[in-house]
Amino acid sequence: MNIKGSTNIVGLIGHPVEHSFSPPMHNAAFQSLEMDYAYVAFDVEPQNVGEAIKGAESLNIKGFNVTIPHKIEVMQYLDELDEVAELIGAVNTIDFKDLKGYNTDGIGAVRAIEEVTSIKNKDVVVAGAGGASRAISFYLAKFGASSITILNRNVDKAQSLAEDVLASDLIGDVESGSISEITNHLADADILVDTTPVGMDPHINDGPIATADDMHEDLVVFDAVYNPNETVLIKEAIKAGAKPVYGIKMLLYQGAESFKIWTGRDAPIDVMQDALNDYLGR
Ligand code: ATR
Repeated sequence: MNIKGSTNIVGLIGHPVEHSFSPPMHNAAFQSLEMDYAYVAFDVEPQNVGEAIKGAESLNIKGFNVTIPHKIEVMQYLDELDEVAELIGAVNTIDFKDLKGYNTDGIGAVRAIEEVTSIKNKDVVVAGAGGASRAISFYLAKFGASSITILNRNVDKAQSLAEDVLASDLIGDVESGSISEITNHLADADILVDTTPVGMDPHINDGPIATADDMHEDLVVFDAVYNPNETVLIKEAIKAGAKPVYGIKMLLYQGAESFKIWTGRDAPIDVMQDALNDYLGR
């Protein structure tokens, strides 16, 4: 990388940040397109988020990704919020041109799924009702899902999220229930989205949230867990002849969306995918 006096800086704020895959992924993209940009990670303590945003503006930084634990806190320091990011109530991308916040996590998942099937008019089951589920559910609604059924261990959380998504008026049919009843819901579903950490390294042999017996061949199965690449749930999907969508694609497409927001250019998907694979040792 050739950093010069003219180089534009984008980056990441979070705590911690040292294991982030975003610097190698974005820097590979900038390099391949010969763009005068560099991506760096900044470890920002929670009490310093406001100062970090002000400082970044003063330093003429072009864009930030925002990760744990700052995604909610950072919103109060922005001038503008993308409509869906506001509904989600969390921001993972800032464009300093207009100090506007976006949430590309949810877009990333939806784009990953859309590599395999369109979301429009589909019946989707979402497992989990935490932060990732929230970001993804609003974008499923935005992209025209016909129905969303949110299933969670804690049913109250599923119900509360379902009410919020329904209240957005992006979709007319949002239901909730217990994850223990997932078998009943999958028979009529087109897409299963798993946002729970089940199967994440080191718990790679956890019982999956659904088995091959619960799945049909036309089901698209997305697992937000990217480590390991082939989770217990993805293994079950393959066994059932269903269509798997790997968690790494969500990382890829959230990055591609952020890249587009900052630079106005389409991201070089293949280059970013290779950089991610290299980073994850695949
Ligand atoms: P994230 O930001 O990744 O969504 P989170 O907000 O902590 O993380 O949410 C984790 C989600 O995974 C929750 O819906 C959680 O269920 P509960 O609300 O009932 O706790 C779900 N989850 C975590 N571990 C799980 C497990 N072993 N089986 C099923 N669901 C699980």
